[in-house]
Amino acid sequence: MRVQPGAEHLTDRLLAWYADHGRDLPWRRTRDPYAILVSEVMLQQTQVARVVPRYVAWLERWPTPAALAAARPAAVIAAWSGLGYNSRAVRLQRACARITEGGWPQTIAGLQGLPGVGPYTAAAVAVLAFGHDLLPVDVNVRRVLDRATGGATLVPAPGHAAEITQALFDLGATVCIARRPRCGVCPLADGCPSRGTTAAPLRRQSRFEGSRRQARGVLLRRVTAGPVSIGDVDAAIAGSLERDGLVSIVNGRITLPGR
Ligand code: ADE
Repeated sequence: MRVQPGAEHLTDRLLAWYADHGRDLPWRRTRDPYAILVSEVMLQQTQVARVVPRYVAWLERWPTPAALAAARPAAVIAAWSGLGYNSRAVRLQRACARITEGGWPQTIAGLQGLPGVGPYTAAAVAVLAFGHDLLPVDVNVRRVLDRATGGATLVPAPGHAAEITQALFDLGATVCIARRPRCGVCPLADGCPSRGTTAAPLRRQSRFEGSRRQARGVLLRRVTAGPVSIGDVDAAIAGSLERDGLVSIVNGRITLPGR
């Protein structure tokens, strides 16, 4: 979403709130595009509190795209263990191989061409690392903007898009939460068209227990511990992991991918 003029008072209030209540998160102390990319890919489907220690450990182990690109895929997959949606690790490594060869794309379209980088993640890297004047809109930011502005956009003073983005993440995570927003402590409550409205219960999340995703996770953990025979497992699940680059299957033996 492009940032447009018209709602300065909202951004002023948002930024004043952020100065007092913003979370101190490790990826906010850097503008290194690689560090930002790692954080955003981890945050795509995993909660902030779980991501923080894993992000710190990841950057210590692989501090640059070249370091990650050169790592053994098996080590990268094992290091992702517990974050869920493991294909993200494979795609992140592939993205880093491309960056190591060709440098960082400087445009949103170029960033979106990297494996595992969709429109939101591309915009986040563009804003948080390269200083573009856009708002990356994930579901939480979308909810805050829809509620507070009725879908209009916020205007940062030039050069403030990164700070506004981070402020919107924090407002969405701690105050303008999905079901029962805490309007009493919201800096945007004054004049907010949605003030005091609670949301209908969320649609039940599809069950994890018994799901294909769970079966993939269980098998990948077994293979991370050591080779597994294809005869001992659900071959369709093993095949889906192989297609995603998460395992290799050779002569009926499933292992993490070597090189
Ligand atoms: N969710 C997605 N990106 C985030 C970030 N940079 N900080 C906090 N939450 C996020």
